Formats: sequence, C-alpha cells, structure tokens
Amino acid sequence: MKPIYVTEPALPPLEDFIPYLQQIWDSKVLTNGGPFHKQLEDALCEYLGVKHIALFTNATIALITALQALRITGEVITTPYSFVATAHSLLWTGVKPVFIDIDPVTLNMDPDAIEAAITPQTTAIMPVHCYGHPCDVERIQKIADTYGLKVIYDAAHAFGVQNEAGSILNYGDLAVLSFHATKVFNTFEGGAIICPDAKTKQRIDHLKNFGFVDEVTVVAPGINGKMSEFNAALGLLQLKGIQGALEKRKVIDERYRSALADVAGIYCVPSAGEKVANYAYFPIMIRPDYPISRDALYQKLRDNGIFARRYFYPLISDFPMYRGLPSATPANLPVARQSANQVICLPIYPTLGEAEQDKIISVIQEA
Ligand SMILES: Cc1ncc(COP(=O)(O)O)c(C=O)c1O
Repeated sequence: MKPIYVTEPALPPLEDFIPYLQQIWDSKVLTNGGPFHKQLEDALCEYLGVKHIALFTNATIALITALQALRITGEVITTPYSFVATAHSLLWTGVKPVFIDIDPVTLNMDPDAIEAAITPQTTAIMPVHCYGHPCDVERIQKIADTYGLKVIYDAAHAFGVQNEAGSILNYGDLAVLSFHATKVFNTFEGGAIICPDAKTKQRIDHLKNFGFVDEVTVVAPGINGKMSEFNAALGLLQLKGIQGALEKRKVIDERYRSALADVAGIYCVPSAGEKVANYAYFPIMIRPDYPISRDALYQKLRDNGIFARRYFYPLISDFPMYRGLPSATPANLPVARQSANQVICLPIYPTLGEAEQDKIISVIQEA
C-alpha cells in the first residue's frame, strides 16, 4: 500500500483546468484583481453566505493584514493550541500575544479565561475555530462588547461551517480563511478575509496591494497579499467539487467514529454542535487507559506507512519566541498542554479509500 498521509489535496481533473489556463494565457491578466479573482470573490460570498470577501495569497498574510486593518496594538488574547501562524501574525504586527487555556471539550479558547487575561493594553481577541469546530461565538462577542475589544477569528479551518444562524465566518470584526493545499478547500496556496462591510473590504484591498488607492496614491504601508489569477481560477473549479468532497469526508468521519467507539483509551473529539460541519480533521485523544503511549501509537502508525500528525503539538507557547511570555507558563495552560500531549489527527480526505481507512483503524485497535 502507498503511504497514507494525514491529508491529500483535492484536485479537479487536470483537463478541466486547461480552459482556465487558456483564458489566462489569452488575456495576459495574471494578477491584480483580474476576472477570475472577481468571479471567485462573488462565488465564495454566495457559497459561504457572507457579504464581503477579500482574497489573499495565503492566510498568514491575511491575518497580519486583518490586524493592520483594525489598527490592533498592545496585547491580543489568543490560544496556544493552534498552528503557529496564529501567534506569528501577532508578532509580525508588533503585538504581544497573551495565551489562555482551552475548553476540554471543544479545544477552542475557554471563554471563562478571557476576562482574567484582559489588561489596559488589551485591544483584541484572536480565537481559532480549531479543526473547524466553532468557538463559543456569542459569549466571545459579549465579552468583547463589554470591554470594547475587537475580535479577529482565525477561521483557517472553518470553510463552510455553519451554526443555526448561518456561516460561522460572519462572527467577529473579521474572519480569516486559509486555502492552503492541506485545507478542505484549496487554491494551491491562498486565503481570504471575510469583511462585514464594503468600506472595510476596500481598506483591506488597499492594504493587500501595497496601500495603493490609485496609480499615484499610497494610503498605508501595505503589503503584497494579492491572490493570482492562477489560484483564483483553481478556486472556481474547486468550488464545483466542494459539496461532493464534504460528503466523502463525512462518511470517513462516521466510519472512524463507529469503529473506534469501543476502543478503550481512544477518545474521538466530537463536533462543537455546528449545524453544518466540514470534517476538516479527525483528532483523537490517546488517554492513559490505552495500552501504549500517544507517541508509541504515532510511531506504530508510521511503521505501517500511516503518517498521522500530532496537531497541535508542541503548543505555540512552547516555541522559543513565545515561551518567555508570562502567559506561556505551563500552569496557565493545563488543558491545552494535556491535549497537545494526547492528540493525533488521523488521515481524512475525500480520496481516502475504505481499505486504507480499515488499515488505520486496525493498527489502532490492535495496539
Ligand atoms: C489555524 C491556522 N491558522 C493559520 C494558518 C496559516 O495558513 P496559510 O498556510 O494559508 O498561511 C494555518 C494553516 O496553514 C492554520 O491551520
């Protein structure tokens, strides 16, 4: 059997992409808000159920731009249980990350811990919808409103996720998506900011194009965050297959859940009650009553050609550029630490076959 990785990017048939390339070659418009860029923005607004979207070259530049657009300074409260780009975006903006612990069930930022972390320097909260499972968006907004804080969601995992009111991306002042190759919806590399109004989108569009407003006017020290026509064209094509891809992910999710339900010491992280899930990841926790340790199972899977990943281990707060912060102290983050030490994300992607999934399940069952 060929190696099984934690994910495999979804790609349309190559021949379907050729007509898009032909159009790019014919028009010679490669970037800077070309026709595919405009079409993808419109198509994503409709598919996701959001009002305004600004496409980006990746989510990391989008997070940095989101912070700049809202002029965030001082301290931002965030989670250590995420991909390192969440906190890196704060450091790149000259902002101090303040880590708080996570909820043991959802693994998202614990709203109970937010208030205690607020200081006179706090200007914003940056929560992550970890694994595409929604944060407690209502409570976070309430706290933000009480203290006059902005909320910027790192929604890199949350493409297409909905609660009762619709898209989870409509919460907060801004929400940032990733379209990286490993994500549910990919444009090779890519990202986006969901904006609540046209004025904010316009500011963000200026910021992602060096701050240019017109040929001779630069209004801010912007960056080059633009998505190319090549990526936007792929996005349009990917959207046609997204529903089928999500349905296949759901079947894989359900098969894992039923096969692993009775394995002592294995806990499948549940959804956070979302109305529409995206099955972006399949995290399990390896608990003390499992016969071997988390790292022994991780190695055993590798020995069998299964390259699962320990997302999110190590915690962001353990990396050298963060561990000196007062909020990075282990006593402040017990749930995040335990989760990081127990987690394995199992392979989940639309082309994962039943035989491959059965092999993964049997390695876990037979430890
Ligand atoms: C939670 C989170 N935030 C940010 C990023 C950065 O996204 P990108 O690779 O598009 O820059 C990722 C993953 O790549 C992520 O998982």
